[in-house]
Amino acid sequence: MTDKKSILLIIGGGIAAYKCLELIRRLKEQDISVTPVLTKAGTEFVTPLSLATLAETEVHTDLFDLKNETEIGHIQLSRQADLVVVAPATADLMAKMANGLANDLASTLLLATDKDVLIAPAMNVRMWQHPATQRNIDTLKQDGVKFVGPEIGDMACGETGPGRLSEVPDIVTAIQSAIHMKKGPLSGKSILITAGPTHEPIDPVRYIANRSSGKQGYALAEVASVLGADVTLISGPTKLPVPSGIRFIEVETAREMRDATLANLPVDIAICAAAVADWRVKKSAGQKMKKTKEGLPQLELAENPDILANLSDLKDKRPSLVIGFAAETETVIEHAQKKLKKKGCDWIVANDVSAKGNVFGNDETSIHIISAKTVESFENVSKEDAAKQILLKAAKELKL
Ligand code: C5P
Repeated sequence: MTDKKSILLIIGGGIAAYKCLELIRRLKEQDISVTPVLTKAGTEFVTPLSLATLAETEVHTDLFDLKNETEIGHIQLSRQADLVVVAPATADLMAKMANGLANDLASTLLLATDKDVLIAPAMNVRMWQHPATQRNIDTLKQDGVKFVGPEIGDMACGETGPGRLSEVPDIVTAIQSAIHMKKGPLSGKSILITAGPTHEPIDPVRYIANRSSGKQGYALAEVASVLGADVTLISGPTKLPVPSGIRFIEVETAREMRDATLANLPVDIAICAAAVADWRVKKSAGQKMKKTKEGLPQLELAENPDILANLSDLKDKRPSLVIGFAAETETVIEHAQKKLKKKGCDWIVANDVSAKGNVFGNDETSIHIISAKTVESFENVSKEDAAKQILLKAAKELKL
C-alpha cells in the first residue's frame, strides 16, 4: 500500500476535452496518478494515445473491451481510485448520471463506484440554463456529487455566460480538497466568500461603487485555503492579486454576485465580506449619457438583492454557518447585534469604520465576532489575523 492518491478521470465529449491533457500533467506534478476513461464522443476531441502518453497508463474507452473485462472489470476500475472525476462533464453525461443510466463504460463506472464523484461541467450556456439540465444539477447535488464550476465567460461557440470549464488549477484544487490532500482544521470543509465592492452601471462608462478594497475578503480566502478549506472567492472589481489554490469568480454587479453565490452552493460556510451596493440604477443607459441643456439626468434607483439575508433564509442549501460583516461608525456592537437578527445569519463580524477606525483599504482592523450569545473582540490586528480568528472559531463551531 502507498499513500499516493489516484483518480479515475472520465473525459466527456466536448470542445473543452483538450484541457484534460493539461489537467493530467498538473495532477501528476502533485503526485496524483490518473487513470483516464474516454467516452465515445470524447475520442472525437482527444486521442487515447495522447492521454496514455501523458498519464503513463492504459486508457479505457469501451465497456465491451474484452481484454479489459478479463484483466480488470469495470466494477474494480470504478472503485480502485480515491476519487472519480468527470471533466469535462457534458449535459449528456450529467443527464445519464442523474437518471442512473449505464449504457457505456463512463456511465457504468459512475453508477458502480463507491467513491466520491467530482464533476467539472462544460457546455453551451443555453444547455446549462435549460430546465432539464438545472433539474439534473439539483439531483446530482442531492446525490452528493461535488461540482467545480462551470465558469462564466466566453465560450467556443461564441456565446457568453455560465458553461465554461473551470480553469485547470481550480480543478486541481477541487480534486486535492476532495481527496483531503489539504491538511488543517478546515480540511474537508467548503467555504464561499464574497469580497470587494460591486459596481452598478449608470451607463457604459460610469457606475455606482464604494471604497471597499476587498482586502478582508481576500485575506479570509487565503487563510481559509491555508487552513485546508476548499475555497470559492466571489469578488467584485478589486486591484488585489488572486490568492492561489482557490476557486476565483469575478463579478461586477450585486445581481451577478448573488447569482454566482447561489450557483456555488452547497457549502459548509458562507462569509459575506463584500460591500455590496445597496442600490443600482433601475435602467442603465446603453450609451454614454450626454450633458444636455434640458437639465440634470434623473437616475431612478432600485434595491439590490441582499445576498447575506438570502443565504441565511435558504431552506435546503443553507450553509451550516453564515457569517456577515457590519461596518459601523458608532455603538458598534449594539448595531451589529441588531444586524445579526435582521439578516438571520449566525455571526456578524463588526468593525469600526469611523475616522479613528479607518479600516477601508488598511491592512489593520479591529473586529468583534458577535453571535446570538457571545461577543469576542480582537483589537488592532492585521486583516490576516482577523481572518484566522474568524476561521478558527468557525472550524471549532463545525466540529461541535
Ligand atoms: O446591510 P449592510 O450592508 O450593512 O450589511 C452588511 C453585510 O451584509 C455584509 O456581510 C455584506 O456582505 C452583506 N450584504 C449582502 N448583500 C447586500 C448588502 C449587504 O450580502 N445587498
